[in-house]
Amino acid sequence: MVAGVAVIGPDTVDNPLLGRLYPGPKAKVWLPPRWGGGHSGAQVSKTIAHGGRPQPLATTKATAGLRGVVRVPGDKSISHRALIFGALATGRTTIKGLLEAEDVLNTAKAVTALGAPATKSTAGHVWTVLGRGTGGLKQPSAPIDFGNSGTGTRLMMGVVAGHDITVTMTGDASLSRRPMARVLKPLRQMGLLTREEKDTLPLTVEGSAHLVPIEYVLPVPSAQVKSAILIAGLMAAGETTVVEREPTRDHTERMLRYFGATVTTELKDGLTRITVFGDAELSGREVVVPGDPSSAAFLICAALLVPGSDITVEGVLVNPTRTGLYTTLMEMGADILFTNQREEGGEPIADIRARASQLRGVHVPAERAPSMIDEYPVLAAVAAFADGDTRLDGLGELKVKESDRLAATAAGLVANGVLATVEGDTLIVGGARRVPGGGTVATHLDHRIAMAFLTLGLASEAPVTVDDTAMIATSFPEFRELMQTLGATYAN
Ligand code: S3P
Repeated sequence: MVAGVAVIGPDTVDNPLLGRLYPGPKAKVWLPPRWGGGHSGAQVSKTIAHGGRPQPLATTKATAGLRGVVRVPGDKSISHRALIFGALATGRTTIKGLLEAEDVLNTAKAVTALGAPATKSTAGHVWTVLGRGTGGLKQPSAPIDFGNSGTGTRLMMGVVAGHDITVTMTGDASLSRRPMARVLKPLRQMGLLTREEKDTLPLTVEGSAHLVPIEYVLPVPSAQVKSAILIAGLMAAGETTVVEREPTRDHTERMLRYFGATVTTELKDGLTRITVFGDAELSGREVVVPGDPSSAAFLICAALLVPGSDITVEGVLVNPTRTGLYTTLMEMGADILFTNQREEGGEPIADIRARASQLRGVHVPAERAPSMIDEYPVLAAVAAFADGDTRLDGLGELKVKESDRLAATAAGLVANGVLATVEGDTLIVGGARRVPGGGTVATHLDHRIAMAFLTLGLASEAPVTVDDTAMIATSFPEFRELMQTLGATYAN
């Protein structure tokens, strides 16, 4: 159940409540071409995020409401984990709905390089991973490039930690600036060695077949750090425990249980203790990846901003550790409905309907940050159109994402005539119901900054330009095509 959000379901034609509140999809459902849907609009960029030339793009104000019933590609967090746990399992894992974006494809290449081939079937768009069992991965023959992906890098550090192998990990300019100490510190306690003194990529890490289990209190609320420790803990001799002060996304715990590991979660004195039992054996499974709520966020926010809009995004992951944005939008007065709630592969999913709404400024408390950590840039864009100020507290972690998202978001807003101020870890957005636009936004190799400001431009007076869209391919290659399907227009 989504925290603070009414869920209506199941979606059957004879459900009177649904009939009244949710007449059901009338439009044809748009599917990405790789799922058998038709192409419309521009070709999806295949540019390697850190190699190609910048691809600037401007959004023009939408003159009619956005409309349609669509699906978004698979959840990025779950996609990474499905590949990694498939590689650590014994036997075959099949994955339906894997996100085929650069970040995840880099993880697929990484597990393949470690001896667990991840391949896509030509028919049916199903991915298969041939697992080697925990501790069974092999020495790769070359350095592994993780591109732009912090998740891929950090989770794979946990994998390497438990194997007697040495791996050189590299990444693009953005990833090479991001802090790895947060994950290296606990992994070093367990037995991982690094050749370099520094804590940023490129790094050569040496694992061990004799990891020591630890108990570790997370100094920052990070699901990536938690997951790296739990993954290493699968291969340690004994019980490894991670203690969280603030709950973070729990896909690792859920999926590890699904693959057969013993993982316990205990709530005590306001802390969450997650324990994984070592010397674990995972078995290959069938995984269905739900739609990514962090990608759906751009479509839903766009629909709220453009007058006359009415869209539905089907099959979106609504795990409560991921739905902080939706809770916040509803507090702002957004017309959002969750319908047809169901469960797939141990994760809750629902269809989300959003209609254009006049929003009011709100205060978003710091404790909500982990459940909407990737959604702040687009929330800030939405808040610019609200009535009154929106205060976003506890944004320290935004400074170490693909860019310093706190600074990049504030700068992008100011460039487009919005009053935005940063006070420590707080962002205050002056909502004035209208946004002048006309500015160019520096995206700093950050996909979510690009998509957030292309969303802002759909409702601003003058077009909003982002300096580069190539990075969007790291998480949501279909973004532009999907938005155009709903009625958005862009100018190169
Ligand atoms: C992720 C966790 C979050 C999030 C990232 C994906 C994951 O990072 O920002 O996009 O899949 O575990 P942190 O856990 O470091 O906050």
